[in-house]
Amino acid sequence: MAIEKHHVKSKLAVAYQLIHTPRISRHIPDTELLRESSFYRMLSKHDKIYLKPDQGRKSRGVIRVERLRDDSYKLRQGTEVNYVDGKDLWTSVKGITEDSRYVVQRAVDSVTKGGRPFDLRCHSLRVRGKWKVGGICGRLGEHGSIVTTSHYGGTPVLLRTLFKRHLEYTAKERIKMNRKLERCVLRTVRRVSQMYPNLKEFAVDIGIDRHKKIWIYEVNIEPLIRGNFKLLPDQALFRKIKRMREIAR
Ligand SMILES: Nc1ncnc2c1ncn2[C@@H]1O[C@H](COP(=O)(O)OP(=O)(O)O)[C@@H](O)[C@H]1O
Ligand SMILES: [Mg+2]
Repeated sequence: MAIEKHHVKSKLAVAYQLIHTPRISRHIPDTELLRESSFYRMLSKHDKIYLKPDQGRKSRGVIRVERLRDDSYKLRQGTEVNYVDGKDLWTSVKGITEDSRYVVQRAVDSVTKGGRPFDLRCHSLRVRGKWKVGGICGRLGEHGSIVTTSHYGGTPVLLRTLFKRHLEYTAKERIKMNRKLERCVLRTVRRVSQMYPNLKEFAVDIGIDRHKKIWIYEVNIEPLIRGNFKLLPDQALFRKIKRMREIAR
């Protein structure tokens, strides 16, 4: 597939490129432009799906739809929960999403041993033409939340703490996962940088399912570090990324 050059964020454009990239495609959850047909196709394949604004950020407008028994559905957005009958489902979804372009994506079961949702913020920079991982941190959502962003009650945590305390990985599993993540992030940003050749910084948002499989939720262009790395109990990564920014090109 030809690589298009982009200047604005588009979750869909990035997902489409990555879905067609060997060794990355298996990390991309099923993702499509939200339309009535794609919505029902996704729901027939997956019990839970996410609807997200194509150009969204900070979890704004993120909705989760969950199929329950008896043709009823649970819709969640922020702290709001609604139960909707099958026959009214598309009308409700359309009502909430019609003001902007949305993508529909299968949900990844990325939860801690204690049942809290989590994901990883993987920050990457291009230093003298070479892509490097500046830092990875975890983000823990509140119990029952559908997102992990600090703007919605989520808490950034050190990767080590997340893996050890919340996922109960052994030392060996931690080392293996760190290596897998680093490789996956670098492959991803190298590819995405072909779409945005002028950008020298990306952040990949990643979930990990119960089988320790890595799933890429989105790739952020022009990522900020105040809402995540700055809030960690240890500022080492925050300072490291700031230093790398000075020499990034
Ligand atoms: N497919 C998914 N499965 C599970 N959780 C998801 C999925 N997509 C997004 N999320 C949750 O919603 C948050 C926001 O989604 P994201 O794609 O990162 O959009 P935004 O641009 O708003 O940051 C993620 O940080 C994650 O916690
Ligand atoms: Mg995100």
